[in-house]
Amino acid sequence: MDSLLSSLFSLEKQELHILNCMAYFMMVMAACSFVALLFDKVPYGRYASSKYGFPVNVRFAWFVQELPAFLVPLCLVIWTSCAKTSLPPNQLLIAMFFCHYVQRSLIYPFLIRGGKPTPFISFVLAFVFCTYNGYMQIRYLSHYAEYPAHWVSHPCFITGSVLWLVGWLVNVHSDHILRNLRKSGETGYKIPTGGMFEYVSGANFLGEITEWAGFALAGHSAHSLAFATFTTVVLTSRAVAHHKWYLAKFENYPKNRKALIPFLF
Ligand SMILES: NC(=O)c1ccc[n+]([C@@H]2O[C@H](COP(=O)([O-])OP(=O)(O)OC[C@H]3O[C@@H](n4cnc5c(N)ncnc54)[C@H](OP(=O)(O)O)[C@@H]3O)[C@@H](O)[C@H]2O)c1
Repeated sequence: MDSLLSSLFSLEKQELHILNCMAYFMMVMAACSFVALLFDKVPYGRYASSKYGFPVNVRFAWFVQELPAFLVPLCLVIWTSCAKTSLPPNQLLIAMFFCHYVQRSLIYPFLIRGGKPTPFISFVLAFVFCTYNGYMQIRYLSHYAEYPAHWVSHPCFITGSVLWLVGWLVNVHSDHILRNLRKSGETGYKIPTGGMFEYVSGANFLGEITEWAGFALAGHSAHSLAFATFTTVVLTSRAVAHHKWYLAKFENYPKNRKALIPFLF
């Protein structure tokens, strides 16, 4: 893999420049997605539509589309010269990324109950995103990111890591609540209750946004900021769409529940 990377980039400076450009491009894509999502919803789950391609089995789609976010980083840390992986901040940030994607790609898909098929275009876009982001985050952290001495005891790193952990727990717990709304074989929708769903309709999305915002604070890089921004744009739109959908579908939907931010929004 090292020889592949050195045939693509003759100098390390060149690869770092490409990684930085990738982060800025992801921020531009986040801005474009923000505008596009004002006019349409992310087309999967209850909003899936045949205009975005033929339906792909939901478990297969989640497994295959998320797998590159685990496998690309794994290949990078095993088969490339990782100049920075012995440093504690880099190690911890890489561990956070792996922790999320081991759960998301190897566990989450096989727990889904009655999920709607994913349209082919959504599936391909998610696959491309996970490959792109897996390379960008982990190549930067394993080979280039340099933090000041004692960065792991800096308030930004500590606060970011705590936010990451709390966000991850909220995300996993909320997905667990949603899954248990359905008995085996059911495909309909019910009002979620418990955990952060008592406060917001998009509790799983709130968890994921908090997670990557914490990662960005601890990671202090354009790369982690770009990922957190993209996630925030996509998942805020989804939380707002779900909230409106619940209010329209269920007369008894809790009126004090917000879309994404408890008590506020
Ligand atoms: N980082 C990112 O950019 C990103 C992007 C997308 C998703 N994600 C994460 O991936 C996970 C899943 O995302 P998602 O958009 O699929 O979440 P979702 O719309 O909340 O759906 C999650 C699962 O729960 C089911 N479900 C949702 N609401 C339900 C209800 N009221 N009653 C019964 N079942 C219900 C869905 O079934 P149906 O399929 O039948 O609707 C689906 O299987 C979340 O943790 C999210 O944070 C991350």
